[in-house]
Amino acid sequence: MEDHIPLDFQPIPPEESLARAEAFYAQMARRRSVRFFADRPLPEGLLEQIVATAGTAPSGANQQPWTFVAVRSPDLKRQIRAAAEEEERAFYSQRAPESWLSDLAPLGTGWEKPFLDAAPALLVIFRQRHGYDADGTLHKHYYTLESVGIAVGMLIAAIHNAGLVSLTHTPSPMEFLERILERPTSEKAFLLMPVGYPAEDATVPNITRKPLDEILIWR
Ligand SMILES: Cc1cc2nc3c(=O)[nH]c(=O)nc-3n(C[C@H](O)[C@H](O)[C@H](O)COP(=O)(O)O)c2cc1C
Repeated sequence: MEDHIPLDFQPIPPEESLARAEAFYAQMARRRSVRFFADRPLPEGLLEQIVATAGTAPSGANQQPWTFVAVRSPDLKRQIRAAAEEEERAFYSQRAPESWLSDLAPLGTGWEKPFLDAAPALLVIFRQRHGYDADGTLHKHYYTLESVGIAVGMLIAAIHNAGLVSLTHTPSPMEFLERILERPTSEKAFLLMPVGYPAEDATVPNITRKPLDEILIWR
């Protein structure tokens, strides 16, 4: 049964569109992944607002197959850091092929992850492989990787827009997050994202972004 409502669309005059697009680009171009966090708490209510923004993302069949776990407990952060460092130590010393290590070298990353207990919050994003109907039967979810990826993109933009910084972190494998945070078997850990303020002396790798003519093709 279809239930449609009028679209809530706020038109922007064409001459203003370009100015807004340029200003948004300039703001987003300043976003960087940050690996050094200040010991400074987050304002009350900010994480809720940021996650609510991510939750406006489009999703396959509107199934919204995501769960965001906001970890502030120092004990849980310590457990997550210890488990992540165990995986990362094995990755950097045994599992990673030489080519992967050489791609990572310019970033200066290693197995130690002090940001995992330094940041005031860790957002752990889970992908719901399936849901459940009211009677408990399993309900398949579609395009969960695409949907959660889009939601995380919006999450990162919302974090940056609010004047905070984050790191997209993918210790591999990430099953330990499902165990430590006691998620149901239907949920797979997708990303681990420390969120907060940068340390005063925070540095970032000196990297470049591809120019537009390399990423945009007109036909
Ligand atoms: C899917 C994905 C996984 C990533 N995993 C890690 C990670 O495990 N550790 C890390 O330090 N950075 C990680 N990054 C951050 C990238 O290194 C970073 O985005 C890239 O170098 C570009 O830098 P920028 O985000 O400052 O523009 C990841 C980024 C993405 C998108």
